Amino acid sequence: MCGIIGYIGGKNCVPILIEGLKRLEYRGYDSAGVGLIENNTPVVIKKKGRVAELENKISKLKIDSSVGIAHTRWATHGEPNEVNAHPHVNKDSTIFLVHNGIIENFNELRTDLQNKGFEFRSETDSEVLVQLIDFFMGKDVSLFDAVRYAMNMVKGTYGIAIASTHVPEKIIVARKGSPLVIGLGNGENFIASDVNAIISYTSSIVYLDDGEIACVQKDSFEVKNIDDELIEKEIQQVKISIDSISKGNYAHFMLKEIMEQPVSVKNSFRGRLLFEEGSSKLGGLQGFETRIANSNRILICACGTSWHAGLVAEYMIEQYAGIPVEVEYASEFRYRNPIITADDTCIFISQSGETADTLAAMKEAKRRGALVLGVCNVVGSSIARESHAGVYIHAGPEIGVASTKAFTSQLVVLALITILIARTKHLSLVDGQNILRELDKIPSKIQQILDNHAKIEKIAEEFIDSKNFLYLGRGYNFPVALEGALKLKEISYIHAEGYPAAEMKHGPIALIDKNMPAVFISPVDSVYEKVLSNIEEVKARKGRIIAIATEDDNYIDKIVDYVIKVPNTIRMLMPILTVIPLQLLAYHIAVKKGLNVDQPRNLAKSVTVE
Ligand code: AGP
Ligand code: GLU
Repeated sequence: MCGIIGYIGGKNCVPILIEGLKRLEYRGYDSAGVGLIENNTPVVIKKKGRVAELENKISKLKIDSSVGIAHTRWATHGEPNEVNAHPHVNKDSTIFLVHNGIIENFNELRTDLQNKGFEFRSETDSEVLVQLIDFFMGKDVSLFDAVRYAMNMVKGTYGIAIASTHVPEKIIVARKGSPLVIGLGNGENFIASDVNAIISYTSSIVYLDDGEIACVQKDSFEVKNIDDELIEKEIQQVKISIDSISKGNYAHFMLKEIMEQPVSVKNSFRGRLLFEEGSSKLGGLQGFETRIANSNRILICACGTSWHAGLVAEYMIEQYAGIPVEVEYASEFRYRNPIITADDTCIFISQSGETADTLAAMKEAKRRGALVLGVCNVVGSSIARESHAGVYIHAGPEIGVASTKAFTSQLVVLALITILIARTKHLSLVDGQNILRELDKIPSKIQQILDNHAKIEKIAEEFIDSKNFLYLGRGYNFPVALEGALKLKEISYIHAEGYPAAEMKHGPIALIDKNMPAVFISPVDSVYEKVLSNIEEVKARKGRIIAIATEDDNYIDKIVDYVIKVPNTIRMLMPILTVIPLQLLAYHIAVKKGLNVDQPRNLAKSVTVE
């Protein structure tokens, strides 16, 4: 899940690489490194820790180089230290390589190379790539061909960039399973794991596809496949504003992204509400509406927060469209023998569009003949491009590792998909219009909750020493309980479990005592009375209770310790509101504990490895 950036042109690339690494740091941040060519001399600098530490180390060296590659790492093989940090180099440091992904057959390749006299310095799987390329270059082939031959031998996933003092006018990149883009400038070209890293220099982007290898020079690029055949690539113009990838006046990206939700949610449905028809307009699904509506079954696959959004969609689609829905962890789906037919529609939800498990699950469903749809945030991402059709959520770049605004925008888009299918089935015009009207009011209701920010911050203060938390909800709000617990775990390192409120008495109730806070998501809805009984059960065991309740519910104030009120809406849209206080609660607890909320330990934003 590392981040890769590279530059070749006429400028000193050090500040460009460092800035790019900072933008990519969400992908990994345990160590970082750069490999540069300065007056045809290789310079490799690495540092354990954040990019800022690498920057500090480099700034003392006054390097001027116009060719370089750089990497911020999220270790898979070998602990995060300076030796294991990328770039990895061959014996005389004339070739250096950065890698994102996992080389599954690295052990056998390494043994083979060791038998041929190659010496390894690191514990990583990645180092085998540079040694293999060195081996082929020793056989008098070009760097490009050496990369090609090497890639033919490896199993696993990679996005790689290679520079060499043997050919200082070229950077070679290759991709299989890990994203890579080429950015085209004037007399300079860039390579990166994602567009954000280079968008301040160029918006002309070439997306590499799996199995492609490119030779990038300062004023040209050429892409071939592994069999050495030339591939014509489309140059796309990508629009991302610099503001949307900066923190602005906020202390953290996560807070900015929470606060942005009235706007990001609106952007998700802007131009998509057809009030007159009581339906939605989703250009990306045009031509597929009937096939989706006639599906035997809808299967939703995703990971983490996106999986939680999928669980909410299960309630939405079954309630309104009457099609059976199954929701699966992508990581489990890909290794089962799933029963998929051509009459199934599979929806893959992913903020990044690069999650390796989700991408692999999508390919498997496609192979088995299902219609595969993507619900992604990152435009041009692998999942978006691999799908038959899909819908972008348009939440704008999400940088904080803990997903917030992507979740609410996913819910909006899943509601729009539900309406579209339901209207081609039996949902009435009036009911369709009613959902749209409610959706239209959601941004101002989110704003109302955000205006109550100070109260949530105060409640957070009371819980910074808690060791465990239970999150409980029913129906549409059960996935919200899971999401609230995930947020807290991820950024505050407090153990938290989400549970269907009624299941509590089948086990977790044993955990409850005066030290166990329980967060109930308990809006007034059809299961409200039942949730009240569950609240009483916790109270009877002296648990401390925080309730997320609807604004007109005065009763709940009398029975729980803390109440956070949210405006009312229809059940299907309630999760978009009830999750907001949970995001803020997790955020404030983590900040008060002095933790790095944007880059929590052990995590990375985009999980591009298994
Ligand atoms: C959410 O806060 C997490 N960081 C994580 O669970 C995330 O949702 C998951 O990795 C899926 O990512 P994706 O949406 O980019 O596929
Ligand atoms: N497998 C490589 C390493 O451990 C790259 C990891 C990644 O892409 O996250 O260094």
